[in-house]
Amino acid sequence: MSVKPFSIAIDGPAGAGKSTIAKALAKELNAMYLDTGAMYRAFGLYMLRKGAVNDAKAVAASVVEVEINVEYIDGTQHIFLGGEDVSRAIREPEVSMAASAVSAVPEVRVRMVALQQKIAEGHDVIMDGRDIGTKVLPNATLKIFLTASPEERAKRRCKELEEKGMPQPYEDVLKEMVERDYQDTHRAASPLQAAEDAVRVDTSALTLEQSVAEMKRLALKAIEA
Ligand code: DC
Repeated sequence: MSVKPFSIAIDGPAGAGKSTIAKALAKELNAMYLDTGAMYRAFGLYMLRKGAVNDAKAVAASVVEVEINVEYIDGTQHIFLGGEDVSRAIREPEVSMAASAVSAVPEVRVRMVALQQKIAEGHDVIMDGRDIGTKVLPNATLKIFLTASPEERAKRRCKELEEKGMPQPYEDVLKEMVERDYQDTHRAASPLQAAEDAVRVDTSALTLEQSVAEMKRLALKAIEA
């Protein structure tokens, strides 16, 4: 294996399995895992509490004052807003849309990308999000674009919400997912898109174990190259 730290960028739409797969892969490869969506969610929650999610001026002004910290407790990522652990609160459905809205503001992206690059510096890292291969880690050792059909993604998100004790009807989850994909793909600033040199992996017909095995194979090939 190379001595230089490696970095793996995983991008794709909501519910493609990015965080579950990235977490498992990070364990296998003994790397740090950074869920960048959690950072946009924390800021989305901050703006929701201010009642100004859709006020681009207020969003841009607030991103310079907000204090967002990522900590690892027993190997699990926790996200702090000011001193408050908001790791659970950011998973509420209304925060998903708020995160998507604030993430379209260019000033927000500049600050988040800088924070993400600083957190990753000097570590073997696996990061997931929407612009990791294109903006955050343009020189990543491996870039993956992870996809799955909207129906499969909605099904998985329902299961995840149920396990977290926050069940939602399938139809609502699917509708929200399609809306959010549209918003994330059509924004002007760093829209969700595959980097030119990304490997596409469709997980629709793969189990979690099969997805992780495929990603590990791709990762080891890239790291050892
Ligand atoms: O991955 P997620 O569903 O937790 O992300 C929440 C929102 O944050 C998503 O709708 C778009 C935005 N996001 C982004 O713009 N760039 C990233 N690197 C990660 C997330």
